[in-house]
Amino acid sequence: MKKEKYSFEFDRFDDKSELGALQKIVVDKAFEISHNAYAPYSNFKVGAAVQLENGEIFSSSNQENASYPVGTCAERGLLAYVNANFPNIKIEKLAVSTPNVNFPLPPCGMCRQYILEIEKKQKSSIEIILSGNEGEVFVLNSAKYLLPLHFTDEFLG
Ligand code: THU
Repeated sequence: MKKEKYSFEFDRFDDKSELGALQKIVVDKAFEISHNAYAPYSNFKVGAAVQLENGEIFSSSNQENASYPVGTCAERGLLAYVNANFPNIKIEKLAVSTPNVNFPLPPCGMCRQYILEIEKKQKSSIEIILSGNEGEVFVLNSAKYLLPLHFTDEFLG
């Protein structure tokens, strides 16, 4: 038996104002659209925004439902739309934000798996930018760091 260690590096900014110009634009879009979230049940508003390799930016928010499991996270709703409409244009950046907490919002497990699938499919890393209402911002160079020992299509026969 051997012990294995999983670790990764990420950039930790004290504040949104420290981000690069493009990072800041994408984060601001995610934060802005979070206010339109349809979240009457949790009151937890999440926004997500992507910047494509052609410079276009798209954003969306979480959409809840009276039948709770029907609700969709901001990230998955957005990525489904973008992948459906622009399947051959790579995503360079994905920002996730919320006004509800002063901490970089960690995407849920299901969204991590979803983001990873898109990253694998496009064969290039997506920069993940996590922020909250105020305070620190975390920037990861790839979705794979969000999900160690992940399941991928490689396991399917
Ligand atoms: N939520 C997201 O939209 N993204 C995440 O990564 C975490 C959770 C939403 C789902 C639900 O509408 C609300 O936040 C509370 O869980």
